[in-house]
Amino acid sequence: MAKQLRVGLIGCGFMGRTHSNAYRRLNNFFQVEHQAVLQAICDTNEPKARAYAETWGYQRVETDWRKLLDAKDIDLIDVCVPNVAHHDIVVAAAQAGKMVCCEKPLAMNVAQAEDMVRAVEMAGVPNMIWFNYRRVPSISLAKQIVDEGRIGRAFHYRATYLQDWTISSDVPQGGDALWRLDARVAGSGVTGDLLAHSIDTAMWLNGPIARVVAKTETFIKERKHAVSGQVEPVTIDDACMFLALFANGSMGTFESTRYARGRKNFNTFELNGADGSLYFDLEEPEYLQFFEYRQLATGKKTESHLTGWRKIHTTNSEHPYMSHYWVPGTCIGYEHTFLNALADFVEGLEKGRTTVPNFRSGLQTQKVCDAVIESARTGQWLDTGAEA
Ligand SMILES: NC(=O)c1ccc[n+]([C@@H]2O[C@H](COP(=O)([O-])OP(=O)(O)OC[C@H]3O[C@@H](n4cnc5c(N)ncnc54)[C@H](O)[C@@H]3O)[C@@H](O)[C@H]2O)c1
Repeated sequence: MAKQLRVGLIGCGFMGRTHSNAYRRLNNFFQVEHQAVLQAICDTNEPKARAYAETWGYQRVETDWRKLLDAKDIDLIDVCVPNVAHHDIVVAAAQAGKMVCCEKPLAMNVAQAEDMVRAVEMAGVPNMIWFNYRRVPSISLAKQIVDEGRIGRAFHYRATYLQDWTISSDVPQGGDALWRLDARVAGSGVTGDLLAHSIDTAMWLNGPIARVVAKTETFIKERKHAVSGQVEPVTIDDACMFLALFANGSMGTFESTRYARGRKNFNTFELNGADGSLYFDLEEPEYLQFFEYRQLATGKKTESHLTGWRKIHTTNSEHPYMSHYWVPGTCIGYEHTFLNALADFVEGLEKGRTTVPNFRSGLQTQKVCDAVIESARTGQWLDTGAEA
C-alpha cells in the first residue's frame, strides 16, 4: 500500500487551488511511493473553506491554522495565505515537526526569512518554496543548457515581469487578492510579488546577484482600503526597475510593473553569454529560444549561413517533465508547474535528497528583494549578501 502524505493546506485562494490540483493529480502522472491525501483545509473564511472542501475533496475544515499543527493526522503543512502570515505558520509548523511548503515570497523581510530557515533546519523538516516557474519545462531546459556549459561566460541577464491590472485608481487595496496593494500585508509591491520570481529564476540560471541599485515608483498615491473602507495612502511599489551585478561578473536589468497596458503576466528573460543565448517568454511557455554560437566557433564554419535562433518546442519526452504527460507536440499548462514542483519534492523525500528551491533558496531571493527596496529608498548601490 502507498505511503500517505497527509496534507493540511492553509488559504483557499488562487494558490490554494493550484496546489490542491497538484496534490490530486500527483499519482495520476508521477510514479511516486507516496499518495497525497487532502486531509484538511483551513481558511479564516469558513463558508469559503467549506465550499473548497466540497470542490477539492478535503476531509475536514478548520478556521484556525493552529489546529492543524496539533493534529496527528497531518504530515505536511502547505502555506497559501498572504505574505504577512507566512512566518508565524511556518515557524510553528516546523516546531510541531511537520514538513512545510510555503508560497513565495518566503516572508515580509530578511529577518523573518532567516527565522523561518532556522526553524525548519533546527527541526530537520523537509521544506519547499513554491517558485513554480523553475518547473516550466522550457525554464528547466534553460537550466540544463546552462549546466551543459553551452552559454559560456555570461555577460547579460535581462528580465521583465509586467502586468496591467492596477492602472485604474478605482481598484481598492486590501482584502482577498487585493492585499497585494497593501505593504503591511504583502511586505512590498511588485518587488516581492513579481520580481521575486524573476530573481529566483535569474539566480538559478546565472548564480547569485551580488549588488543592486533600484528605482521604484508608486503611481497612484491613495486608494480606498477594502477592509477599513477609508481612502488610505498606497504603501507598495507599483513599479520597480533595478540594475544588478551577478557574482559571476555579468550585468542584469530587471523591470516589473502592474501599469504596462495590455500585459497580463508577461514574464520574460534573456541570458547572453560568449557561446550562446537563451530567451523565454511565459506567454509562449512551451518554447525556449536558443542561439548557439559555440558550434560555429568550433569549426562548422561552412554552415554559418544557417546560423540563427532556434525556437525549441519543449514537448518531447526528453524535455524536462514531459515524459510524464502526453505525446510529443502536445503541451502542458500553468497548473502542471505546481504538479512538477510537488513531484520533485516528493521524489526528494523518497530518495532522501533535499529538493530545491527550499526555504534557504527563498531566503536568498528575499535578500535581493530587501536590498532592492532599500536601494530604491537610498539611491545607493547595495550588496545583497545573497549566496549560491
Ligand atoms: N507561485 C506563484 O506564482 C504565486 C501566484 C500567486 C500568489 N502567490 C503567493 O501565494 C500566497 C497566497 O496568494 P493568493 O493569490 O492565493 O491569495 P488569495 O487572496 O487568493 O487567497 C488567500 C486566502 O488566504 C486566506 N487567509 C488569509 N489569512 C489567513 C489566515 N491567517 N489563516 C487562514 N486563512 C487565511 C484568505 O481568506 C484567502 O482565502 C501569497 O504568498 C502569494 O504571494 C504565488
